[in-house]
Amino acid sequence: MTLGPLEPLVAQWATLFSNHAAVRTAVVFAHVGGLVGAGGCAVAADRATLLAAAGHDAERRHQVEALAGTHRVVVLGLVFIVVSGLLLFAADVDTFFSSRIFWIKMALILALLTNGVVLQSAERHASRGVGGAWGRLRATSMISLVLWFLVAFAGVALTNAG
Ligand code: HEM
Repeated sequence: MTLGPLEPLVAQWATLFSNHAAVRTAVVFAHVGGLVGAGGCAVAADRATLLAAAGHDAERRHQVEALAGTHRVVVLGLVFIVVSGLLLFAADVDTFFSSRIFWIKMALILALLTNGVVLQSAERHASRGVGGAWGRLRATSMISLVLWFLVAFAGVALTNAG
């Protein structure tokens, strides 16, 4: 894959990455650490939403308020994941660009982000008491929970199968 003007920079980065264990450790930690932070908060919030969906109005109101604070942590974690992910990709462009697992993972990430936008819209509607909003919030929370695990699985498969 030709990278045009980025070629020398990417080549320098790939050399630095493969020659320095400390650099690899820092980048992979940023990736896995971002996953623990963002994915951990998102999965915990999804579980709490699914429990509240079966609960009383007071529990639901409490959960919708709690959700508002979760998004900031998830977005911050995703920033770490995406930046470190691009650095991991740039460390071996030829392998990852031609990897089917890589593109399946990117498709799953797109689904995760799109579902996140729909989940936030359902949450706003639920906080305003719009009918049917809790049904959508329950469905998008279930999808979010499953997608976080699928993306993590694709990430590990990428490391092992390339
Ligand atoms: C929610 C988003 C993401 C999650 C949960 C995730 C998760 C993971 C996990 C668990 C690994 C295995 C780490 C290891 O065992 O060393 C991994 C590897 C990897 N990820 Fe991600 N990732 C995400 C987003 C991205 C993005 C956006 C990119 C690139 C643009 C990316 C590129 C990579 C690459 C290239 C590897 C393989 C690294 C290697 O073989 O050394 N990831 N990812």
